[in-house]
Amino acid sequence: MSRTRLLIGGVCLAVALIGASSVALAQDQNPATPKEVVFARKTLMTSIGTNMYVIDGMLETGKIDLVSGRANAESISAMLMAFPHLFPNSTNLWKANAVRDPATDTLADAGIWESRSFFYKDAMAASKYAFDASRAQNVADFRKSARDLRQSTRTEQSSAKPIGCAC
Ligand code: HEM
Repeated sequence: MSRTRLLIGGVCLAVALIGASSVALAQDQNPATPKEVVFARKTLMTSIGTNMYVIDGMLETGKIDLVSGRANAESISAMLMAFPHLFPNSTNLWKANAVRDPATDTLADAGIWESRSFFYKDAMAASKYAFDASRAQNVADFRKSARDLRQSTRTEQSSAKPIGCAC
């Protein structure tokens, strides 16, 4: 699958997950509530994590299964394309020192909305690493792109400081 088709798939995934965002789909009769959008993006991130942990295991043990690893990476790439579209302003719910339930409350920092374009770029850069891993022709290339992907999620490297990114 080409990156363009993957991009289209990622955006479709975002739209399907949101149902309707307050701005983009203003005319929808049944817009998603902020709570529903937060739930959608937490679900997406959890799935990114589940796929990444398989790849992490391969990197740690050195037992790289290219077929499976590439499939995990392709899923991550598509989901990371959709992810930044799940942050309408109404879901900026960050409050300093608030007690949050990690199962249901958003862990997203307000900085995301202050630096939206950086946040978007971070997500696209990580998505590209995942895409490269999904197209790796050999173990060495897969390992490099997978490491780049893992590294790109370190919060201190992200201009958007994606708090809650359990990387
Ligand atoms: C391999 C890549 C990544 C992994 C394994 C990962 C993992 C996770 C996990 C496990 C969570 C917690 C989900 C939950 O609430 O239960 C999370 C949340 C989050 N991640 Fe990531 N992440 C990755 C990439 C990224 C990237 C590239 C960004 C930003 C550009 C990002 C931004 C966030 C944000 C903002 C949240 C909080 C979402 C919310 O609570 O509303 N993550 N991540």
